Amino acid sequence: GGYSDIQREVLSALQDFIIASEAIRAHYTPLPSDIILASFPKTGTTWLKALTSSILRHSSTLTSSSSSNDLDNLNPHEVVPFLEIEMFGENPLKDITEISSPRVFSTHLPLSFLPETVKTSGCRVIYITRHPADTFVSLWHLYNNKFGTEISIRQAFDEFCKGLAPAGPYFEHVLEFWEARDRVMFVTYEDLKANPEETVRRIAEFLGCKIIVEKIVKECSFEKLRNTSKERGEGVHWSGTKYDMFFRKGVVGDWKNHLTQEMMKELEDLADLKWRGSGLDLNIFNKSASQ
Ligand code: A3P
Repeated sequence: GGYSDIQREVLSALQDFIIASEAIRAHYTPLPSDIILASFPKTGTTWLKALTSSILRHSSTLTSSSSSNDLDNLNPHEVVPFLEIEMFGENPLKDITEISSPRVFSTHLPLSFLPETVKTSGCRVIYITRHPADTFVSLWHLYNNKFGTEISIRQAFDEFCKGLAPAGPYFEHVLEFWEARDRVMFVTYEDLKANPEETVRRIAEFLGCKIIVEKIVKECSFEKLRNTSKERGEGVHWSGTKYDMFFRKGVVGDWKNHLTQEMMKELEDLADLKWRGSGLDLNIFNKSASQ
């Protein structure tokens, strides 16, 4: 017996989460100007990072005269002042007070693992989420890439449904942020695909930034980000995942190529069970352009 690759990955991720959560509670005081990008893995984190970074850069070029930002070389993983909150787990001494405002953090931690002050400090939190079927398929591909083996989709699916995923259970993750949606901006991957300009406009408004939306959408398109990442070559994200693995297919509904009707039904039943009474349901992922 022993642990499967997935279980090993999940256990080590959860252990990192506990350490990170404690370190953040000890070392992090949110400023009202802070921006926190939160997500469950594989729901569009990289895209949201690139968009936010692009919005801020364009916005600052409107208000200040600092020019010559190299917008063609946008790298959502390395852009300053992005910082993975989870990094505190490994490097609690990193001095975040030296980062210039607005400081942008990103995290896969569930809301209840973040300090309470995140809800009260006036900092801005944006949560991106995605249909569980496409999220799962994206995660399964990542496992296969990362472990270099073909993991059975049924086995991976069962672990996902049981809540054994690197950020803990999907349904609870989404629900916590959903229930805080009066304070948290809630965005779906499907919103972004179906209506990128409108969604970017909403994000910019939430951040108090004046921008030209069309430019930003183009700058952060799947092709553009993937190509930039390719040109950069061999970079590796702190989590051990190669940068280019963050760009796979970038579409809505790829689950149809991988999941059976029964598996979809299981996800629908889980969503009913776990989200009942909250007003949250899978219809939030039904966007016209995705049909
Ligand atoms: P797929 O595996 O379905 O292609 P994360 O950044 O949270 O790890 O999510 C990765 C998923 O987002 C992958 O989904 C990836 O291809 C997709 N993605 C990354 N950048 C994107 C973009 N600019 N537009 C659309 N999808 C993007």
